Amino acid sequence: MVKEALVNQIVCIIYNSIMFNPINRLAAILCLLVTFNSCKQATDKNAQATNTTDKQWWKKAVVYQIYPRSFKDSNGDGVGDLNGITSKLDYIKSLGINTIWLNPVYSSPNTDNGYDVSDYRNIMKEFGTMADFDNMLKAMHERGIKLVMDLVVNHSSNEHEWFKKSSSSRSNPYRNYYHWWNAERGKPPYRYSLFDVNHDAWKYDSLTNAYYLHYFSVQQPDLNWENPKVRQEVYSIMKFWADKGIDGFRMDAYQFAAKDTTFPKFPVNGQNFMKYYAIGPHLHDYLKEMNHEVYSKYNLMSVAEGAGNSLQDAHDMVDADRHELNMAYAFDGVGVAQANGYSLIDFKNVFSRWDSAFAKKGWLSIFLANHDQARLVSRFGNDSEAFRVISSKMLNTFLLTMRGTPYVYNGDELGMTNAGFTKVSDYNDVALLNEYQHLKQTGGDLNKYLQSAGKENRDNSRTPFPWNNSTNAGFTTGKPWIGINPNYKTINAAAEEKDPNSCLSYFKKVIRLRKDNPVLVDGKYTLLDKSNPEVYAYTRELNGKKLLILLNFKSKTATANTGIDLSKAKLLLGNYPATTKSGKLRPYEALVYQL
Ligand code: NOJ
Repeated sequence: MVKEALVNQIVCIIYNSIMFNPINRLAAILCLLVTFNSCKQATDKNAQATNTTDKQWWKKAVVYQIYPRSFKDSNGDGVGDLNGITSKLDYIKSLGINTIWLNPVYSSPNTDNGYDVSDYRNIMKEFGTMADFDNMLKAMHERGIKLVMDLVVNHSSNEHEWFKKSSSSRSNPYRNYYHWWNAERGKPPYRYSLFDVNHDAWKYDSLTNAYYLHYFSVQQPDLNWENPKVRQEVYSIMKFWADKGIDGFRMDAYQFAAKDTTFPKFPVNGQNFMKYYAIGPHLHDYLKEMNHEVYSKYNLMSVAEGAGNSLQDAHDMVDADRHELNMAYAFDGVGVAQANGYSLIDFKNVFSRWDSAFAKKGWLSIFLANHDQARLVSRFGNDSEAFRVISSKMLNTFLLTMRGTPYVYNGDELGMTNAGFTKVSDYNDVALLNEYQHLKQTGGDLNKYLQSAGKENRDNSRTPFPWNNSTNAGFTTGKPWIGINPNYKTINAAAEEKDPNSCLSYFKKVIRLRKDNPVLVDGKYTLLDKSNPEVYAYTRELNGKKLLILLNFKSKTATANTGIDLSKAKLLLGNYPATTKSGKLRPYEALVYQL
């Protein structure tokens, strides 16, 4: 863009000089000044992102994920917004984190809370304006906080101009921006839709007598990545935000973008689901092209949701020598937890396997929660009165002492719990509402469904952030868009800030520990006491420094059999007020030793 502007202006100067007219010469000089100024501004913005000499800053990052709709409402409409986030940046800074991942804030009709984008270069009205965004970004950078934006380009909203044109006629130039199947070919081969009432990913559109593909809801048509124009549109959108100075992209559902568009018949047993849906033959070509067009030109963090079908896929996506992305985001870890609990052995195996895949090259994200999962402590810990605080501290110790970039979902630093929703009217989630409809139509067990949703549904983690114990938890002066967790009277930021033993105060200590000990970022990970079903024990080692981490994942006392003599070990951190060196761990105890 800058180069283009410069070329234009040089042409303009030559033209004016040829005219030999003093007024035009003056115009030419002004022209040059304006050009240099705008070039300088663009370079300065990029410099903000690139002047950090550390091209791998994202390895040291601790990512704090903000669900903007639920974080802080500044104008009383019941919906969180950008000015709300800006007003809370000092709180975020006080946590010690240095990177924010923001769920989508682009214009959207909000079928899927922003994951249905109708204009990629604008801000959702409920969230504010572009000026609010610029102001927020500036305020983040002033505090040394980087911003990673969600990029939702497997699909757009059906209200996006591209789709409106695409669906208007078979011969429209935008027709090929999406996947269409003309009805005279018969019904398209079945594809499952994740959010559709009928589980059908093909929607018939009578205007052009054709079906369009939507892996998610009918309002989220899939973009056709085989069309080079679509890819160029996306790169141009990415540059638009990168030129504003943002620091990275989290690419939503990206593996679905590359699909087998011959749409082979789907196996009846659903086996090998991903092969038919995603990670198509061109996935790595697209990523390489994107890297060449965008990532290579800026200093951006890049992470795609999902990490492929195999460790090899994941590795290929983030192997620096291949020039694709810089960080993998694998789901196996969160996938371990089931409604009836999980096996710690499975949990350890998953994290150890993933660590080994990136032991020499590549980099992994470490997370146990996000806006698509139930609350961290309710799912992986114990949210009973007796154990909520201690188990939440233990889980955050895990997240912040593993190798990889930790992602913390907003509210988990407070030990927020599941929402306690019981009725379908409590929910907003398009996936839940459509599945409920589906079960109703097909005679499914609605009560059973709601019971399991109470434990597992993603709206559990989307309740408003509790800032204090005043009305509506200090989130809004209006009517909140979704119910507030009734336990906000005790679980809230203001109360926890005052309490040295709160989840929040402990969370800040673990972050500090990670910052003070580079061994926790780059150090080698070694699993100990592998078959212990209660304790997760591992060491981290770098340049002669070795830390031992012991985590009791259970509600009863457990023993770690690491064979390590702790008598000379120095205790760096523990989640109980007073600790012993007995090797016995109290319920959900977390200990970090320097050996
Ligand atoms: C993954 C996102 O995390 C989720 O919230 C969204 O519903 C789907 N992708 C569709 O965009």
